[in-house]
Amino acid sequence: MIRLENVVKRYNNKKANEFEALHGITIELEQGELVAIIGKSGAGKSTLLHIIACIDSYEEGEYYIDDLLIKHLSDRKLAEIRNEKIGIVMQDFALVEEASCIDNVMLPLDFAKKKKKNRRELAQQALEQVQMGEYSKKPVNQLSGGQKQRVAIARAIVNEPEILIADEPTGALDTKTSEEIMKLFKGLNEQNRTVIIVTHDPTVAEECQRVIEISDGRTLS
Ligand SMILES: Nc1ncnc2c1ncn2[C@@H]1O[C@H](COP(=O)(O)OP(=O)(O)OP(=O)(O)O)[C@@H](O)[C@H]1O
Ligand SMILES: [Mg+2]
Repeated sequence: MIRLENVVKRYNNKKANEFEALHGITIELEQGELVAIIGKSGAGKSTLLHIIACIDSYEEGEYYIDDLLIKHLSDRKLAEIRNEKIGIVMQDFALVEEASCIDNVMLPLDFAKKKKKNRRELAQQALEQVQMGEYSKKPVNQLSGGQKQRVAIARAIVNEPEILIADEPTGALDTKTSEEIMKLFKGLNEQNRTVIIVTHDPTVAEECQRVIEISDGRTLS
């Protein structure tokens, strides 16, 4: 379960160029929910996502994952939580372009605290889940946008995270590919994962059980 209580995010806190991007966000998500986050450009969607993904800190309020307060934790502990509980698909994929698909998908397994022996096998299985099994040896820079998106999803799910987060996963895709990617997210959600998708696309939002709209750093209900 994810719980944010009055979370305030200020960039450049206490500096001359301080900017408050989130003004006190309160959100509660049950395990297994499928949620879309929508809102205008600059509303604070990515900022919120980065806090939920434990990539960025916040200035006020509280954020809990499974009753663990995500505040004042060491970088090491945060990295551990990210690796174990959270899969994130970045807007720009953030893949290693020269490396093969399977090497990209194995990365989170290489960083895991408890090293597994069958890392290659697990990465191959994750690629197969996104219909990219036959491309495992191909370098990422020889793939199409939709294929890269799938590899990024495979990398996000290889550690079997309970929370899957995606920033504009269909933003750069055509309608058909974006429908396929949504199908994939829904399937992953049916395996009792919490799935959070930031999107500008109303058809993507319509497919989610719940839509949270962010406007100027606040939630609209
Ligand atoms: N590193 C930063 N330093 C200062 N201000 C920032 C920083 N990152 C974002 N902001 C500001 O915070 C606000 C929210 O940004 P954010 O990236 O969360 O918007 P968004 O809703 O994801 O927009 P988009 O739909 O364009 O991706 C914006 O006004 C932005 O200018
Ligand atoms: Mg954004």
